[in-house]
Amino acid sequence: MAKVSFEQIKGFVFDLDGVITDTSLYHTKAWHQLADKLDVTWSKELEDGLKGISRMDSLEMILKAGHKENDYTHDEKVALATEKNTNYVNEISKMTPENILPGIKAFLDDLRANGYQIALASASKNGPTVLKNLELTDYFPKIVDPASLSKGKPDPEIYTKGAELLGLAPETCIGVEDAAAGIEAINAANEVSVGIGDATLLKDADVRFDNTAEMTLANIKKAMA
Ligand code: G6P
Ligand code: MG
Repeated sequence: MAKVSFEQIKGFVFDLDGVITDTSLYHTKAWHQLADKLDVTWSKELEDGLKGISRMDSLEMILKAGHKENDYTHDEKVALATEKNTNYVNEISKMTPENILPGIKAFLDDLRANGYQIALASASKNGPTVLKNLELTDYFPKIVDPASLSKGKPDPEIYTKGAELLGLAPETCIGVEDAAAGIEAINAANEVSVGIGDATLLKDADVRFDNTAEMTLANIKKAMA
């Protein structure tokens, strides 16, 4: 049972990586490569925990996992994060609209046709480049600038700002996420949370689907009834 009824919903605030497209795989690949270089053991928990987390916070999590958080200066940490980002940017430069996850284009078209407002709430500073390569820029007239945030997910700030950009009350917005930290952020922002992916990981989502193809307005309406 969701917090509000489906009829009260006016806008959608989307995460990007792992929801619109599978860039989460590229983030994972680039971080895993850096962790190997730093001699930090990679694990599924670390991989899941990094989803939705900003670049510098992700690096801190990796260093902490290897008990190496005090081994590098600030400048060295910036250099390591830049190295990861260079690898990531190289991967996303090859992206095309074929990298849009199943059903997403149709869902965005349906949202538009039904008058819902749409915003992007990604922690990624590469978000606009990814949208451009996917040819989806026009669908996202409102994008929260991650550089403007004082706190990252799971803090609600990014989702609160998403609703603000749309000029909507948070409770009339649905937030869509693949990360546990993102679901926590949406719930704390008092929006309705839709999770895409693993039931255990996304146990706090108001509504959950196994994959993007299942995310339709009809299915959301059914799940919120
Ligand atoms: C998203 C991804 C994270 C990534 C973060 C920052 O939230 O889920 O894996 O670390 O964005 O991305 P950036 O492209 O700015 O390094
Ligand atoms: Mg994500």
